[in-house]
Amino acid sequence: MQNHTSRPAKVLVTSASGLLGARVCRELLDQGNEVIALSQQTPLREDLATYRVRLDLCDKDMLDSLFQQFRPTAVIHTAALADPQLCEEQPLLSRRLNVEVSRQIAQRCQINQIPMVFTSTDLVYDGERGNYLESDPVSPINRYGEHKAEAERVILDACPTAAVFRLPLLYGGGLVCHLANAPVAQTVRGRKAIIWLQRRIAFKC
Ligand SMILES: NC(=O)c1ccc[n+]([C@@H]2O[C@H](COP(=O)([O-])OP(=O)(O)OC[C@H]3O[C@@H](n4cnc5c(N)ncnc54)[C@H](OP(=O)(O)O)[C@@H]3O)[C@@H](O)[C@H]2O)c1
Repeated sequence: MQNHTSRPAKVLVTSASGLLGARVCRELLDQGNEVIALSQQTPLREDLATYRVRLDLCDKDMLDSLFQQFRPTAVIHTAALADPQLCEEQPLLSRRLNVEVSRQIAQRCQINQIPMVFTSTDLVYDGERGNYLESDPVSPINRYGEHKAEAERVILDACPTAAVFRLPLLYGGGLVCHLANAPVAQTVRGRKAIIWLQRRIAFKC
């Protein structure tokens, strides 16, 4: 990720311990950017990022300190309660992390005039028809999809320049992999992971 003046960015990646976030950190680092890698419970390897921080994103004060201390020039917000079953079982936590934390991050990006990328899901659709366009109305059928759809709305309200990506199911081994033993990962073990990543996003830093 380079901005249009070719200066390396200083990118905050939430969920650097996640399946996708760890790959994003590695990619950004390989492209010569500074990376502030965030996790909560999982310790991060030293070579994954320029800076490694462990905190609970639900702690508003910690979030403020994070922005003040590191002054990121872009944010890729991948942290989530991304297990649909857990979202059903823990709706308050799902709302807090998936919606409220996303709103708070978007507000800080807007205040600091920095670009934000948010990873949403194709589960904002019910899947009945398929081949959806971005312009199709959302139609979630579970709480995870509902909360991600709500997160998209609050993010774009707070930070209209944010980029929202509705990702399909990801599989493969993460660098710090939570899903390494999950059935789907076991099924595809040995095959190349399919993780789509927008490699070059024109940021206005
Ligand atoms: N995986 C998929 O198939 C898929 C499909 C479509 C969209 N997405 C979206 O893509 C993004 C990444 O998904 P993923 O599967 O890579 O996630 P994941 O592997 O489940 O990782 C979740 C991450 O969120 C962090 N996290 C959770 N609660 C936190 C908190 N309170 N404070 C700070 N960090 C917290 C976890 O950190 P610790 O483990 O260190 O606590 C972990 O790094 C998510 O936004 C998800 O909704 C995923």
